[in-house]
Amino acid sequence: MSLPTVLLTHTLPPDWIASLTGRVQAITGPADATCLDPAFEPYLSTAEGVLCLLTIPVCHDLLERMPNLRVVSNMAVGYDNIDVPFCTARGIPVGNTPGVLTEATADLTLALLLAAARCLPQASLDAREGRWSTWRPAGWLGTDLNGATLGIIGMGKIGKAVAERARGFGMKILYSDEIARPEVESALGAVRFPFDVILRQSDFISLHAPLTEATRKVINASTLRLMKTTAILINAARGPMVDTTALVHALQEGWIAAAALDVTDPEPLPSCHPLYSLPNCLIVPHIGSATGNVRRRMAEMACENLLAGLENRPLPYCVNPEIYTHPRR
Ligand code: GLV
Repeated sequence: MSLPTVLLTHTLPPDWIASLTGRVQAITGPADATCLDPAFEPYLSTAEGVLCLLTIPVCHDLLERMPNLRVVSNMAVGYDNIDVPFCTARGIPVGNTPGVLTEATADLTLALLLAAARCLPQASLDAREGRWSTWRPAGWLGTDLNGATLGIIGMGKIGKAVAERARGFGMKILYSDEIARPEVESALGAVRFPFDVILRQSDFISLHAPLTEATRKVINASTLRLMKTTAILINAARGPMVDTTALVHALQEGWIAAAALDVTDPEPLPSCHPLYSLPNCLIVPHIGSATGNVRRRMAEMACENLLAGLENRPLPYCVNPEIYTHPRR
């Protein structure tokens, strides 16, 4: 019996995807692919599965060219790179990797928050480059976390894990979300407010909502202007939630104090981008989930989803489970 053809958009460590051995005919793209490998072209019409990363748009056009596709498995919790409504209309299940990266992403968020609050990038650079001439009472002054207000935009799993950590630092938690989260309110004393109130009242704003049409550029010139001039913005969610041009102005002109970004728009941010030249902007290359254990588990979950879809079993981690209750095919 011939094995189903699947497109693995990127080369992954073989032991992370060992479960695929002998079960699929994998056509694999390069480890550092920034777009769909043109070498996939001859396989699009026969491929039955795709295992992709968040950097590959699985858009309407691509899906139209894959008539035999039976499963899309994203090695990420976010799935804004995939045209899910179109997959759903065609009865194609879409898988993601929820839960496993919650704690690592929350850790990285706190690392960004602390680094920005205490000017770590600038202080580290100054030490390395010979500007540490003495213990300076008024040098490298940062901001306290204890007693500061953290505004969390999007109180899902990651937002909650960030709130738990922030409480440990003595921060007050405000949040904005489509729905109330009574469990977070009672456990952490978090208070839900409208978005604009959070922006006005918070010392730190951290984004944790999914990227949708409603959250795209939710941080823009008008909303940045609402924030305190001392505020620090953290984004470990999705780059396009922030209007990058507006953020450059905000940081250059002091509308806010600083930003710490794990994600940017565009991504990757070109090395000549003005954000890199701003000392009050810390940028890391989308590493929220980047621990060895987490990345391995994400790959394993993506393989579980892929194999389930190919074997006509419900995906264990499915973003459009309605295809099973309202099947189209
Ligand atoms: C990372 O950004 C993810 O969505 O998994």
